[in-house]
Amino acid sequence: MAIRFEDIKEHIGSRVVWDDRADIFSPEAARAIRAQVEARTVVVFPELHLTDAEQLAITEAMGERVRLTARNNVQNNDQDVYQVTLDEKINPQPEYVLGTFFWHMDGITVDMPPPFATLLSCRIAPAIGGETEFASTYAAYEGLPEEEKRALDGLKAVHSVRASLSPIADAIPEKHRERVLGIGLVKEHPLVWTHESGRKSLVIGTTADHIVGMDVPAGRAMLIRLQEWAAQPAFSLRHKWTKGDFVIWDNTGAMHRAIPYDKSTGRMMHRTSIAGTEAVAA
Ligand SMILES: [Fe+2]
Repeated sequence: MAIRFEDIKEHIGSRVVWDDRADIFSPEAARAIRAQVEARTVVVFPELHLTDAEQLAITEAMGERVRLTARNNVQNNDQDVYQVTLDEKINPQPEYVLGTFFWHMDGITVDMPPPFATLLSCRIAPAIGGETEFASTYAAYEGLPEEEKRALDGLKAVHSVRASLSPIADAIPEKHRERVLGIGLVKEHPLVWTHESGRKSLVIGTTADHIVGMDVPAGRAMLIRLQEWAAQPAFSLRHKWTKGDFVIWDNTGAMHRAIPYDKSTGRMMHRTSIAGTEAVAA
């Protein structure tokens, strides 16, 4: 086999090992990597140093590339590569990036199936902070006691950008606060996603505002407990970025967040996304 995978933790994470860098770009490798992302949630390519063209090629070899965020970046040639940065000269909407400090799934409040995978290349690694954490919502569901699984059956949560930005809402300048909080749709999703594969995962994160038909305090408490459960060390992984690292994760089976960092670190990540093929279903 041209590329090999090593487990990082028992329930989450694989590291890719290769002899020849060119092997990563073969169609067989794309199939193997996609399968590994589905099986292990997070796949790390240490110091691969992809160009944007190479990142887009891998993205397209694994599925259909999709533009997740309306283009805000002004210093980029390809509209399907989103630059994740707090530098307002490049990204005039830093609030959107500050929201990534809290557990979330990408593309859960837009009118399409949630993206299958998110792909990030590290261009500038911060010395302090800026790690990305991943929590497997498959492992979290599978690890629940049977009676808790039964209690979640049939429940739905309401998701919105407003909910996900509520921890930082008062830090958004008032003049455009309402516009930012109003981004995206208000979407109802089953709390437990039964995928076409038959596997089940939790659909949680700060976008989840409340549970349909449940008192708001009780529903929020349940959502926060589930978030804490999924984030426990057994089900989660923290990646400390080195310049050139490339990470792909299964956005349909994981929450993620960035450890806070300051814009003076210059942290710069290039993001692409692969379209999802199934809507969240009970
Ligand atoms: Fe994200």
